[in-house]
Amino acid sequence: NKRTPLVAGNWKMHKTPAEAGNFVKLLRESVDQQGGSVEVIVCPPFPALAAVASKLAGSEIGWGAQNMHWEAKGAFTGEVSAPMLQAMGCHYVILGHSERRGHFGENDEVIRKKLTAAITCGLRPIFCLGEDLATREAGQAVEHCRKQLRAGLEGLELNQPLALVVAYEPIWAIGTGKTATAEDAVEVISALRQEIADMYGEEFASIMRILYGGSVSPESISSFMKEEMIDGVLVGGASLDIDKFTAIIQTTA
Ligand code: G3H
Repeated sequence: NKRTPLVAGNWKMHKTPAEAGNFVKLLRESVDQQGGSVEVIVCPPFPALAAVASKLAGSEIGWGAQNMHWEAKGAFTGEVSAPMLQAMGCHYVILGHSERRGHFGENDEVIRKKLTAAITCGLRPIFCLGEDLATREAGQAVEHCRKQLRAGLEGLELNQPLALVVAYEPIWAIGTGKTATAEDAVEVISALRQEIADMYGEEFASIMRILYGGSVSPESISSFMKEEMIDGVLVGGASLDIDKFTAIIQTTA
C-alpha cells in the first residue's frame, strides 16, 4: 500500500493557547526525530491555532481546524471561513464530525457545502462519518456510511486524492472507551473505498486515506494499524495527553 499513515489529534473544546503551545513543543521533540514514516497533525480549537502554527513553524507536524462555515465571508456572527483558515497557513479541517451533526444540527447538505468550500480553498477536509448503535445493531452500518459518504461528496469534483481524508467514526465508539473491532472497521472502510473508486476511479481510491476514529488508545492502536485497509487514526481523548499521543504515533510509525 502506497499510503502514508496519518495520525490526527482532535482536541475538541480543550486547551488554551498557552497549553496548546506547550503541548506541541513537546510533541515536536518526539516527532521531529522520527523521520516521516507517519504524518502527524493536531486540530486545536480556533483560539489556539495561531499559537500552534507558530510553535510548529518548520516542523513536519501539521495542524488543522475543527470546523468552518461554507461561505467565504458575510454576516455570520461567530463563524470562521475557509479563506480565513487558509490565510493562517491551515492545511486540514475536520468536517462532518458526529458532535457537529448531533449537537449543532449539521446535516449532509451542510456538510456537503462545507466540503466543497474547503476543497475549493485548498484546505484538506477530514470528512467524518459513522453510524449510531441502533444502526449497527440493525445491520445497517455499512449502508449508512456509504450513504453519508455519497451525500457529502455529491457533485464534488476531486482530482487530488491527498486533498481529502475520510474518517470512519462509529458514534457509539466516540469517547466511550469502546472501540470497533478491527474487523468491523475494515468492513466499513473497504466499502467506503469501493464507493470512492466508483466515484473517482480505482487509482484515486488506492491513494486516498481513510482513518478509523473512536476511543483509539495506546492499547488499541496496533490492532487497527495491522490492517492495511486502515490508513491511520483520528484520536480524541488520547490526543490531549502527550504520553498517550506519542505512544500512538510511535506504534503507527
Ligand atoms: O474525533 C475524534 C473522535 O471523536 C474520537 O474521540 O478518541 O475521544 O473517542 P475519542
